[in-house]
Amino acid sequence: MERTFIMIKPDGVKRRLVGEILGRFEKRGFQLIALKMLDVSRELAERHYEAHKGKVFYDELLEFVTSGTVVAMVLEAEDAVKLGRRMIGALDPSEAAPGTIRGDFTTSTRQNLIHGADSAEAAAREIALWFPELR
Ligand code: GTP
Ligand code: MG
Repeated sequence: MERTFIMIKPDGVKRRLVGEILGRFEKRGFQLIALKMLDVSRELAERHYEAHKGKVFYDELLEFVTSGTVVAMVLEAEDAVKLGRRMIGALDPSEAAPGTIRGDFTTSTRQNLIHGADSAEAAAREIALWFPELR
């Protein structure tokens, strides 16, 4: 079994899609291990997105993720990281397939509802960052 880190971004909470999104993971067979709702500090946002530091969209990205409440969670399944990314769908809206979360609910590259860890290493790092109490 593998664990992944998933975060429903402020637009997902504002659009009342938390239940829809969590339901998709549960119905697929992911086990919910931990979940919290929180307002992200600038510091947590910077640490979470440190790989994007220096990119043109970095400031806008931090502003967005700190603009409202998010729902952070740890989900467990076989191959959870890869499966989670497949369920989320591509970053480019024209590539986000129908049936994926982004492909069904957003046309935006920026307000794209959800974050999912993109590797086992990223998942471990993000789980430790967001859920230090889990260790
Ligand atoms: P995350 O799961 O949120 O990490 O998305 P991702 O892995 O599909 O994309 P990536 O890690 O490359 O980018 C992180 C986030 O930065 C995206 O989800 C977007 O919110 C934002 N982002 C990426 N590229 C752009 C861009 O070209 N412009 C803007 N404004 N935002 C971008
Ligand atoms: Mg990413």
